[in-house]
Amino acid sequence: MIIAIDGTLASGKGTLAKRLAVHFELPHMDTGALYRATGVAALRAGVALDDAQACAQLAGQLDLSEFEDSELRTAEAGQAASRVAALTPVREALFRLQRDFAFQPGGAVLDGRDIGTVVCPEADVKFWVDASVEERARRRCLELEAAGKPIAFDKMLSELRERDERDRNRATAPMKPAEDALMIDTTAMNPDRVMEVALAHIKDR
Ligand code: DC
Repeated sequence: MIIAIDGTLASGKGTLAKRLAVHFELPHMDTGALYRATGVAALRAGVALDDAQACAQLAGQLDLSEFEDSELRTAEAGQAASRVAALTPVREALFRLQRDFAFQPGGAVLDGRDIGTVVCPEADVKFWVDASVEERARRRCLELEAAGKPIAFDKMLSELRERDERDRNRATAPMKPAEDALMIDTTAMNPDRVMEVALAHIKDR
């Protein structure tokens, strides 16, 4: 079974993906980490975040073991990720990696922005996870505070709006729900409830 989970930043899609992977004993890929690592690699190498060919080359040579998770989770890495994710050659360089992961024997859970629409339109089950931008900013602020990198709520809110805008309006693989995805609005739901809704949908299918 291939499960595709797409949605906005801090909507709870990653938490749902991890929980479904454990529940069904499937491997999980957080595809945002690939874009984050590409962005961080570009920052490290002093490569401009709009240099499509140089960033694609970094994406093609990516070794995730060279990146600390905490380094990938910073606001700076997120901004860089959103910029390199808008470059078509970067998306092409990461496409095969994600598709091979999805089609391994037994299946997989992948979360991102374009899994159900571009990377794996054939997925057996698709979810689109979203929440109000204020609630997502609140969650992300708490996360960054816990990681010792606090950021003001208003700054987070405007960064999220900017990122949503860029992810939604890019020419290649814009962030959008697949037509056959189940929409889950997590604004007023806790992770247990989100999991219940997702499991009920998978059972139905
Ligand atoms: O989910 P995330 O915040 O870790 O994603 C980081 C950035 O990468 C985000 O701006 C959108 C982009 N991304 C993408 O374009 N396609 C994906 N499949 C996953 C992430």
